[in-house]
Amino acid sequence: MIQRFTTSLETDLLVKFDHFIRRRKYNNRSEAIRDLIRRAILTDAWTGNREVVGVVTLVFGHHQHTVQDRIADIQHDHHALVISTTHIHLTHDECLEVIILRGPASRIKAVADQLIALRGVKDGALTTTGLTG
Ligand code: NI
Repeated sequence: MIQRFTTSLETDLLVKFDHFIRRRKYNNRSEAIRDLIRRAILTDAWTGNREVVGVVTLVFGHHQHTVQDRIADIQHDHHALVISTTHIHLTHDECLEVIILRGPASRIKAVADQLIALRGVKDGALTTTGLTG
């Protein structure tokens, strides 16, 4: 069920919001507001210890075997939190690994930090998603 509500905004904030909506290719204000609210609720869940879903993306060198072993070791250490892992051979020299984790926010964050901080990980990010209820 969809419910309507009325919001009051200062004119300059509304102008900035409409620019934002155009840049992000939203069809209308409602769609943009829905996404922002969902994002805010998900972000809030990560400040507590609720069950969350996190997606860790890692880029690392194919020829650096130590980093690949460490990435696998960390996942085995926390196997109950790891739902799925996908490894893509990006180029001749680089690999991309996407790891989906589910569990208490603080533990997911700690595992993600450990993976991203590994020596040899050239780019790493944690994306938070899922469990909006
Ligand atoms: Ni590879």
